[in-house]
This record gives sequence, C-alpha cells and structure tokens, in this order.
Amino acid sequence: MKAIVLKQVGGTENLELRDIPVPAIKDNEVLVRNHAAGINPVDAFVRASEGALNMFLQPQEGEDIIIGWDIAGEVTATGKNVKQFKPGDAVFGMVNFTGHGKAYAEYVAAPESQLALKPANTSYEAAAAASLAALTAWQALVTYGKIKKGDKVLIHAAAGGVGHYAVQIAKHFGAYVIGTSSAAKKEAVLRFGADEHIDYNSQKFEEVVTDADIVLDSLGAPDHIDRSLAAVKDGGRLISLLVFFSDEQKQKAAAKNVYTHRISVVSNGDDMKSIAALLEQGDLHSEIAHVYALEETGKAHEQVATGKTLGKVVVKI
Ligand SMILES: NC(=O)c1ccc[n+]([C@@H]2O[C@H](COP(=O)([O-])OP(=O)(O)OC[C@H]3O[C@@H](n4cnc5c(N)ncnc54)[C@H](OP(=O)(O)O)[C@@H]3O)[C@@H](O)[C@H]2O)c1
Repeated sequence: MKAIVLKQVGGTENLELRDIPVPAIKDNEVLVRNHAAGINPVDAFVRASEGALNMFLQPQEGEDIIIGWDIAGEVTATGKNVKQFKPGDAVFGMVNFTGHGKAYAEYVAAPESQLALKPANTSYEAAAAASLAALTAWQALVTYGKIKKGDKVLIHAAAGGVGHYAVQIAKHFGAYVIGTSSAAKKEAVLRFGADEHIDYNSQKFEEVVTDADIVLDSLGAPDHIDRSLAAVKDGGRLISLLVFFSDEQKQKAAAKNVYTHRISVVSNGDDMKSIAALLEQGDLHSEIAHVYALEETGKAHEQVATGKTLGKVVVKI
C-alpha cells in the first residue's frame, strides 16, 4: 500500500511516499481502506520535533513512522472480537491518539471503539476533517464545558479547525456564541453560526465580553489566558487547548470560582457517534480550505503551520 513515511524528524521534505505492507489487525480492530486523512497542527509539530514525536507516537525501533490520526474510509476486514462494524461499512474517527495512528496510508488498523459510521450525507474528506478537531471541540464544550441552552460562549480562533466546529456545536446546544478571528474571516465566523464577531486586531475581547459562561482558548500566549479569565463570569468555565494554567492563574480562577481545564483530546467512539449524528442532521459541516493529494502531504503541513487556515486541511488518499 501507499503511505507517507517520515524519514527523519525535520522539514516537510522528510515526508516520503513509499510502498509498504498493509498493516495486520488485532482482534479488536478493523482494517480500513482509508480515503482521507485530516491534517492538524499537531501533525506538523510531531514531524518537526523529536520530543513531540516520542511523546505522541512512541514509534518502535525499525518501524515505519507514519503521522496522522484522522481517518475516513471503508472497513475491509474485522478482528474476531469486532461487533459494531462489518466489511463495506463507511467509518471515520481519530484513531490511537497519543499512539501511532498511522493515518497517512491507504490502509489503517483502527480500534472499533474509536470509530463511528460515516453519515451518507458526508464525504470522506469532510468526515476525516471532523475527527480530531471536531472531537476536541465536543470534549471541550460538552465533556468539560458542560454546555447548556442559553449559555454565553466565547470561542477564540473561531475560523480555525477546532473553532469552526466549536461554534456549530455550541449553536446546536442553544448557546449564544461570540467568535474571534481577524476581520477577513468575520463573514465565515458568522456563517458558521456565531451571533457576534470580535476582530482581535481592532478590539480587546475582554472589554467586549466580561460575563461568558464558557471560554474556549486555543491561543499560545500565556497572557491570553489571563485575558480570557477576565472574560469569564464568576462561576464560569475556562477551557484551554494549548497553554497549561500556571499556579497563579489557577488561584485567580479559584477566586472567581471559575473552573479551569487544559484539555487533551482523547480517541472516543461514543463522542464520534455524537459528531456523526450532528453531521447527519445538518447541524455540523466541515469547512474545507484545501484538499491535497497524498504525495502533497508536505504542502498540507505547510498550510496548517501558517496558523491562518479557514476550517480544515485534508489529504485525499
Ligand atoms: N489540547 C488538545 O487536545 C488540542 C486539540 C486540537 C487542537 N489543539 C491546539 O489548538 C490550537 C488550534 O487548533 P486548530 O486546529 O483549530 O488550528 P488552526 O485551524 O490552524 O487555527 C487557525 C485559525 O486560528 C485563527 N487565529 C490565529 N491567531 C488568532 C488570534 N490571535 N485570535 C483569534 N484567532 C486567531 C486564524 O484566524 P485568522 O486568520 O483570522 O487569524 C485561523 O483561522 C492549535 O494550537 C492546536 O495545536 C489542541
């Protein structure tokens, strides 16, 4: 089968198209003929950093290193303990996150517990896109944010991969949604369903919003968390995707009775089924900025690394 193998940690020139054996499946796994891989910022991070590679993939000696966790394709074989899926089923999901997902390949061995059936109204590209990023948005808002109808929710980077799913999921729950982006992406953020838009270049979001029930912060600067804390109301919830809270920030949050959590997304088939249901009923759409061919995976990494993508980047396999 064709796969993109990482020759060594470094630039995108180290992503090489190779012919390698189809993986064997374990008893709890299905073999998926993969048609699309979602590309995420963590993919480029892992490619470029030895520490990140070892932390996320833990590759074994002599094993081909294949990045990627988001897959969408057809089941071609099932392990003997698999109950939910049969050959011919179209499935999608984020597989073996913080492990070797090996998504940049024509065939992927995937645990059945991490997959959902792909809705018929959703393409393989849109389904692969709606894996890690949509799962992160779901777990941030639902699992940790405890979102409910009428909540005021501030979503940073609302035009990005995670952000655009978060806006749609929050609207699905009946929240009032405020999304931040540059002015150029205002129309898109409102199109995703946000009730209000804040241009982070011309407005200080913490001066516009001071009473959010939930804030989703995916930005890298530590002082951004302090500003987000100012935007949450007493008793609200602040979920960080990137920065870990300092002791000082935890104390400040405690003084406001604000729940804080730095999320690490986890593979979860039940959450994928919730995402599949939203896709099926038309409450969730993948905005796809670019679809690249498998041999162009390096270009897909370069696009994601700009930090300016509108929606998602996908590789077609
Ligand atoms: N902890 C976890 O489990 C987890 C899971 C998923 C992702 N993440 C992290 O979360 C972050 C977001 O991921 P992603 O996939 O959504 O990234 P992404 O798709 O690359 O985000 C791109 C978006 O960020 C926006 N943006 C850039 N600077 C901004 C600012 N100062 N304020 C508001 N928006 C800004 C851009 O809008 P403009 O072009 O308008 O600036 C662009 O649309 C990444 O750092 C990723 O590694 C963490």
